[in-house]
Amino acid sequence: MHPVDTMGRPVRDLRISVTDRCNFRCSYCMPKSVFGQDYRFMDRKELLSFEEIERVARAFVRLGVEKIRLTGGEPLLRREVEGLVARLATIDRLDLTLTTNASLLARKARVLKDAGLNRVNVSLDSLDDATFRAMNDVDFPVARVLEGIEAASEAGLPVKVNAVVKRGVNDDGIVELARHFRGSPHTLRYIEFMDVGTTNGWRLDDVVPAAEIVERIDAVFPLEPVDAAYRGEVAQRWRYRDGAGEVGVISSVTQPFCGDCTRSRISAEGKLYTCLFAARGTDLRALIRSGATDDELTEAIGAVWLRRADRYSEIRTERTRELPRIEMSYIGG
Ligand SMILES: C[S@@+](CC[C@H](N)C(=O)[O-])C[C@H]1O[C@@H](n2cnc3c(N)ncnc32)[C@H](O)[C@@H]1O
Ligand code: SF4
Repeated sequence: MHPVDTMGRPVRDLRISVTDRCNFRCSYCMPKSVFGQDYRFMDRKELLSFEEIERVARAFVRLGVEKIRLTGGEPLLRREVEGLVARLATIDRLDLTLTTNASLLARKARVLKDAGLNRVNVSLDSLDDATFRAMNDVDFPVARVLEGIEAASEAGLPVKVNAVVKRGVNDDGIVELARHFRGSPHTLRYIEFMDVGTTNGWRLDDVVPAAEIVERIDAVFPLEPVDAAYRGEVAQRWRYRDGAGEVGVISSVTQPFCGDCTRSRISAEGKLYTCLFAARGTDLRALIRSGATDDELTEAIGAVWLRRADRYSEIRTERTRELPRIEMSYIGG
């Protein structure tokens, strides 16, 4: 069964959060004021086990999923995450990737590659050390992230670099990032600061529209558009006219792409969400731990997908900002 939802969208991508913990406190994601000493993270027994995650992943693949991304929190903080990678790598024809802040990547790149990981996405918002340390809010140096990128590359893992842009915080470094990654094997993508969760104090004024990001790069390194490679590709792609490669922009706020969204998401405790901006999920862990068979699990997920009608980003208004919703560190982006 390959279900389509109420808007005709198939399920192609699955993002699996493997932990809600992180060693960074990026202000746009896990501000220290909220995720401080007293914050209650999930207990180990609340998390889906690797075996449970594999069952969920296989159910999604039966429903049409072709790409799985491990995320978090910081996925490399999950103990022996490479064991999970190895399990998922046994699933046929699956593109398996992981999104990381790269703080532990230099140490882990080789084992992840050996376990069967296909690619990594590294989050890196600024090349300026002071700006980067301020943005991660734990004084983590940018040089260590760059080392992680190199280690991944040397281990044979293709790397995409993602930069969230926040006006007045790191937008002065947009061109510098482009300059650094132009002509390298690593694809750089800029992400508009999104109103995910309720703790990051999001304001529309803080968003640098993708069109403006492209303009600023184009003024220094002329660009031309590239066609989307596949349905549901979130990044608009641009290539340098001088042949130095491509950059992407992800305009989830200013030009939403809900109509093509083929993504589903699982939180670390096994709740299924069909939108980044959802308030409620479906408890797959309860289903699994009550003894559901693989067929029952697949059927339950398929039924959720058939009912799916989410298009939050397309109907975003000042008022939708007040609605309850989950945090990015909980669902993993
Ligand atoms: C939640 S993180 C989880 C994985 C890992 N810790 C990392 O940072 O790559 C996944 C992605 O979401 C992005 N992100 C977090 N909060 C965001 C926001 N408010 N707007 C846009 N992107 C955001 C991060 O920059 C990162 O690229
Ligand atoms: S964006 Fe990633 S690294 Fe930053 S706080 Fe969120 S989960 Fe951690």
